[in-house]
Amino acid sequence: MKQIVLYASKGGNTGKIADEIAQELMCESVKVTQTNLANSVDLDSCDLIFVGTGIQYGNPNQDIVDYLKTVSLKKPKVFALFLTWGGAGKTKQDVIAKLKTILETKGNRVSEDYFVCYGGWNFLRRGHPNREDTQAARVWAKKIANTNI
Ligand SMILES: Cc1cc2nc3c(=O)[nH]c(=O)nc-3n(C[C@H](O)[C@H](O)[C@H](O)COP(=O)(O)O)c2cc1C
Repeated sequence: MKQIVLYASKGGNTGKIADEIAQELMCESVKVTQTNLANSVDLDSCDLIFVGTGIQYGNPNQDIVDYLKTVSLKKPKVFALFLTWGGAGKTKQDVIAKLKTILETKGNRVSEDYFVCYGGWNFLRRGHPNREDTQAARVWAKKIANTNI
């Protein structure tokens, strides 16, 4: 059962959570950017794929969107989503819905159980993700891995 964590992160908040999940599950964590778009990653060899992003103006990070749109898998996979955000309105639901649509359109299954925590920027939500957030992310990841094998 191979797992991987893919994420895009402008300010590092989502990266922090991604690394905690990867440590908990003892798997690789890969940052997706416009220049690498995780080219080196063989997703076909993975059974469970974690995808994380911060929210920018109600949207997922464009790097992860571009990557997920272009990725072509031999067989559909199971995905689990995680977010860091500032807590603005229903942007959380919007972002989950957008990512789900991209993945499900290609026949993949997306776990209904996603993880979200605050991620600070400037003076807002300062200190997040904090230790409580990273611990909660680890618990969530373990649960997802145990229920999707
Ligand atoms: C330019 C900008 C736009 C943002 N837009 C939103 C938003 O629409 N909704 C929200 O809840 N948080 C918003 N945030 C907060 C980020 O989603 C939050 O800080 C997140 O942790 C950033 O993740 P990253 O550091 O991994 O990029 C915004 C932050 C910035 C800097």
